[in-house]
Amino acid sequence: MADTKPVNLMDKIVALCKRRGFVFQSSEIYGGINGFWDYGPMGAELKRNVRDAWWNDTVRRRTDVVGIDGTIITHPKVWEASGHVTSFSDPMVDCKKCKGRWRADQLPETKCPEGGPHDYTEARQFNLMFESHAGPVKDDSNKVYLRPETAQVIFVQFQNVLSVSRQKIPFGIAQIGKAFRNEINPRNFTFRSREFEQMELEFFIKPGTDADWHQKWVAERLKWYETIGLPKEKLSIYEYKKEELAHYASACVDVMFAFPFGVQELEGIAARGNFDLSQHEKFSGKSMMYFDDETKEKYIPHVVEPSAGVDRICLALICAAYTEEEIAPGDTRIVMKFAPRIAPVKVAVFPLLRNKPPLVEKARQVFDLLQPHFTTEWDDRGNIGKRYRYQDEQGTPWCVTVDFDTLGEKGPELLDTVTLRDRDTMKQDRVKIADLVSLISQKLRS
Ligand code: GAP
Repeated sequence: MADTKPVNLMDKIVALCKRRGFVFQSSEIYGGINGFWDYGPMGAELKRNVRDAWWNDTVRRRTDVVGIDGTIITHPKVWEASGHVTSFSDPMVDCKKCKGRWRADQLPETKCPEGGPHDYTEARQFNLMFESHAGPVKDDSNKVYLRPETAQVIFVQFQNVLSVSRQKIPFGIAQIGKAFRNEINPRNFTFRSREFEQMELEFFIKPGTDADWHQKWVAERLKWYETIGLPKEKLSIYEYKKEELAHYASACVDVMFAFPFGVQELEGIAARGNFDLSQHEKFSGKSMMYFDDETKEKYIPHVVEPSAGVDRICLALICAAYTEEEIAPGDTRIVMKFAPRIAPVKVAVFPLLRNKPPLVEKARQVFDLLQPHFTTEWDDRGNIGKRYRYQDEQGTPWCVTVDFDTLGEKGPELLDTVTLRDRDTMKQDRVKIADLVSLISQKLRS
């Protein structure tokens, strides 16, 4: 395996993301817009697979979690109650000479383009929430915010969900959706964006059980990252010290990933006490009490909150998958070694030659057979070798080729067989078309 140096690895990954349609700069034809990214055909599939894996494992395969899908814009009081209006801010400084603007804790290492060092103003707090107005009148009474996290929408609907879902404490409410933060310095590709997506779980518990549930969720979430194919050795946790915790939190652990630009957070898992529900009770005047019919106890539930970022997970998967292999002197193949479960396309189907109708017709039949079961791609451009390389760069785990043997030209024993090529070993096995669905399904499960 070729030695890829961390200094230029990110550039290569960004180039591949554009070349193979994982990530494009938003509004690229207009010069782009800082902190916003679009996902291309492969990125959209990857992102969907990440969301589906999380939703299936966190909601559908559990009996103690239900999901919701709330709005991006809420009543503005939600953000007063949560504390975001007053304190969701970063310290910001300007350079008086070049008018550049930075987070005070992330100052640039470069010199001022106007000459000499930058001449910074005093740091002042900059609120990260995007503002807008609901309705035609743009005054303060109509001011709304784009949600900076999905979590608050869950707290606000706690009583409604409790009353319809037949759940009892302990239970969780999960949500996947967009969040917006007007980050002062978006950076590291999609890692810190202004528009991103979160997968958040608020797991409501009995007061006093916080430490147990927090530990359980940290273990559960760490394990989950391995199930989507992130290597164990690139994952770690960061445990907050007492003095780093918010005043209402009893514990917080970040799941970290070793990106080429450093070890950074993928997900935070916080034990937040009953801060959020209590605040919404105070600001709305509506009770957030829970009544336990068995023990007759009444309390505002505490919460453990695993909160993950879809875009960061996709970036971690892309970085972990990126591999350069020298397969012959001077011949390096780039291959995205995604876990099959998460790979954007599971199988590609090729006719050996595009100008031989019997091959194309048979390959179409194979494509039609596979497509209802797997995300399947058709490719008849260029030669077979180029098609394999193309699929390797997209991370497609298996390629099926229909050749003259499939048509029985070398004898009846090979009739209706195809080659099944493995992305990682590059080995090709001859298999029966009739066995393809069960064989690929089996491989996907293993
Ligand atoms: N409700 C808790 C909460 O929002 P957070 O640590 O601010 O906690 C949770 O965010 C996760 O959301 C982060 O671990 C990260 O994966 C993702 N995230 C936060 N800010 C982001 C940004 N600017 N760009 C991309 N992802 C972000």
